[in-house]
Amino acid sequence: MKYHSAAFAIVMSVALVFIMGALQTAEGKPRIKKLPFGKTADGVDVSLYVLTNKRGAEISIMTYGARVVSLKMPDRDGKFADIVLGYDNLDGYLHDTAYFGAIAGRYANRIAHAKFELDGKTYTLPQNDGQNSLHGGTQGFDKRVWTAKDVSTPAAEALELTYLSKDGEEGYPGNLTARVVYTLTETDELRIDYSATTDKDTVLNITNHSYFNLAGEGNGDILGEEMEINADQFTPIDSTFIPTGKLENVAGTPFDFRKPAPIGSRIDDDNEQLKFGKGYDHNFVLNRDHKPGLVLAARVYDKKSGRELEVLTTQPGVQFYSGNFLDGSIHGKGGVAYGHRFGFCLETQHYPDSPNHANFPSAELKPGQRYHQVTVFKFSAH
Ligand code: GLA
Repeated sequence: MKYHSAAFAIVMSVALVFIMGALQTAEGKPRIKKLPFGKTADGVDVSLYVLTNKRGAEISIMTYGARVVSLKMPDRDGKFADIVLGYDNLDGYLHDTAYFGAIAGRYANRIAHAKFELDGKTYTLPQNDGQNSLHGGTQGFDKRVWTAKDVSTPAAEALELTYLSKDGEEGYPGNLTARVVYTLTETDELRIDYSATTDKDTVLNITNHSYFNLAGEGNGDILGEEMEINADQFTPIDSTFIPTGKLENVAGTPFDFRKPAPIGSRIDDDNEQLKFGKGYDHNFVLNRDHKPGLVLAARVYDKKSGRELEVLTTQPGVQFYSGNFLDGSIHGKGGVAYGHRFGFCLETQHYPDSPNHANFPSAELKPGQRYHQVTVFKFSAH
């Protein structure tokens, strides 16, 4: 009898494994993991989604701010580390002022004097950076709870996040439906698709504000990591970080990253732009030779770990921010103090303050049009 029930159990488990396998093939892959991640101050539930690929890479994304919470990629010895700055729990993010991992919008980066004109009308935005408006205002996309949906395919796990930004929210016109899809491919790429539609003429600029440290988050500063940026020009700023409107050649300046150079090699040079930015906090004009579609924006290499990041984008610009405002006062994952320049951001974007610069590529969106931008963060190790 005992023997029979044991045999039965074995047969049943084999059958179960079989059925599970069949279910997985029917759906392509096991579904991405969903975990509770706490509640906002208003009592709204926040969820964390974990995407993985067969090589063991893993990214977790939460619905609060549609933020990348962790990103685990291997070094040249196959050792995984989390390479984005952030916090252990939701509470850290609820008090965050650094935009760790966040989707920034409606208008990422700055709008001068928190004002712009569109179709002859002046729109006034919240001033949350001196007189300027930064990253969509006081309650930007980084502080909203997005709606998530598993949109995985047999080829890759993917998470869609949507948010309806109401007409007039943070001063911007039009009901704007924003959609961000994060896809983790089997070749260690994090692809981000941004799309949006509106019911009134409006302006927008959506990006991801992840801070990377290819040596692993919390593992010192990023000054030794080698940066390459595919840009002959950048947009110089005034002392309030607003573009002057000029495009300046990088040749002969510390902004020339056309050949790889350690981030820290010229960061303290006697240069007005570096003084204004407190380091690098500038928009680079990407070389695209009139080609539409994805072009290389930047490549970063960390010699110690062998990790490399390539950023490709459909956008005209990328903000290279060298983590200058980090000063050790933020305690991130595992309680580690994030010191000066412990992370860098590569925020693919339209140029800052475009609505106030007719010579910059337009950031306008009209009813009937669909905004669509793609950025790919491609990881490897050698
Ligand atoms: C962007 C800005 C920086 C800073 C960070 C967040 O990169 O350009 O000046 O505001 O976001 O600290």
